[in-house]
Amino acid sequence: MAAPAEEKFTTERIIAWHRWHDKLLSFRLTRPEGYRFTPGQFARLGLPLGNGGFVWRAYSMVSANWDEHLEFYSIVVPDGLFTSRLALLGVGSEVLLDKHANGFFTVDRLPDGKDLWLLATGTGLAPYLSILQDPDVWQRFGHIVLVHGVRQRDDLTYQNEIRALTTHELWAEHGHKLRYLPVVTRDAPDGVLNQRLPALLANGELARSANLLLSPASSRFMICGNPAMVEATHRQLMSMGYQLSRLRAPGQIVLENGW
Ligand SMILES: Cc1cc2nc3c(=O)[nH]c(=O)nc-3n(C[C@H](O)[C@H](O)[C@H](O)COP(=O)(O)OP(=O)(O)OC[C@H]3O[C@@H](n4cnc5c(N)ncnc54)[C@H](O)[C@@H]3O)c2cc1C
Ligand SMILES: NC(=O)c1ccc[n+]([C@@H]2O[C@H](COP(=O)([O-])OP(=O)(O)OC[C@H]3O[C@@H](n4cnc5c(N)ncnc54)[C@H](OP(=O)(O)O)[C@@H]3O)[C@@H](O)[C@H]2O)c1
Repeated sequence: MAAPAEEKFTTERIIAWHRWHDKLLSFRLTRPEGYRFTPGQFARLGLPLGNGGFVWRAYSMVSANWDEHLEFYSIVVPDGLFTSRLALLGVGSEVLLDKHANGFFTVDRLPDGKDLWLLATGTGLAPYLSILQDPDVWQRFGHIVLVHGVRQRDDLTYQNEIRALTTHELWAEHGHKLRYLPVVTRDAPDGVLNQRLPALLANGELARSANLLLSPASSRFMICGNPAMVEATHRQLMSMGYQLSRLRAPGQIVLENGW
C-alpha cells in the first residue's frame, strides 16, 4: 500500500497493549479529535520501515465509535512487513493513522430482518466488537448471533468483553438478544462446535446451536475473516437462497475479506 501524503495522516501513540499469545495482540491508540467512523469500518495504520518509507495496513476498529481511544486486534505474521514491526512496539510507541476511516462493512447495508448473524474467523472478530457497541444495532434486531471460528481454543479472545456486552447499560434491555457461538476447529473442548463455518451452515448445526430458524425473510448475515472462508461461506449461503446486499438490490449478506 502506498504511503498517504504527509498531511493525510496523524501520529498517534499506543496507550494500552495486550498480548493474548505470541500470534495475537490488541492495542489502543490515542484518537485524534475529529476522527469519525461507522462501526464495521477500518483504519489505515502506518509504521516506519527505517529507510524513510512506511508500511500501511488496513485494521478494523474494535472500539465503539463513541470511545475516546481507537482499539485494534492484530494477528502477528512472523515475516509480515507490518506485524513483525508492530509486535516489537508497546505503550508509548508511535503509530501513524490515516485521517479517514474506510469501508462498507456496516450494518446499514442490510435491510431490516429479525436475526443478525455475525460470522467471523480469526481477527475477523474485530469489526463485530465495534458493531456490538452500537445501541441502534441492539434495537434493530430480535436476535444477534456472534459466531467466532478459530483454529485453537486459545485463539478465542475477548471472552470477558463479549460476556460484558449482554449487560451494558446503553442497551441493557436488549442484552438477552446476543448468542455467542465459539467454534474451534483443531482442539475443541467437549461441547464446542468444531467444524468450519460453511459445514456448520450446511448441516444445520449453527442454526440448532443458536436455537433459531434460518430464512431469507428473517436472517441477515455479515461475514469477515480468512478470504477462503468468506468465499466458501458466501457460496454456501447462496446455495441456501441468500444474496449479496447491493445498493440497488438489497440482499441478506454483506462480507469483508480479512486480508
Ligand atoms: C479491510 C481489511 C481489514 C483488516 N483488518 C484487520 C484487523 O482488524 N486485524 C488484523 O490483524 N488484520 C487485519 N487486516 C489485515 C492487515 O491489513 C494485514 O494484512 C496484517 O496486519 C498483516 O500485515 P503484514 O504486513 O504483517 O503481513 P501481510 O504481508 O499483509 O500478510 C501476509 C500474510 O499473512 C496472512 N494474514 C494477513 N492478515 C491476517 C490476519 N488478520 N489473520 C490471519 N492471517 C493474516 C495472510 O496469509 C497474508 O497473505 C485487514 C485487512 C483488510 C483488507
Ligand atoms: N494458534 C496458532 O498457531 C495460530 C494462531 C493464530 C494465527 N496463526 C497463524 O496466522 C495465520 C492465520 O491464522 P488464523 O488463526 O486466522 O487462521 P485461519 O487459517 O484463518 O483459521 C481460522 C479459522 O478459519 C477456518 N478456515 C480456514 N480456511 C477456511 C476455509 N477455506 N473455509 C472455511 N473455514 C476456514 C479454520 O479452520 P481449520 O482449522 O480447519 O483450517 C479456523 O477455524 C496462519 O498462517 C497461522 O500460522 C497461528
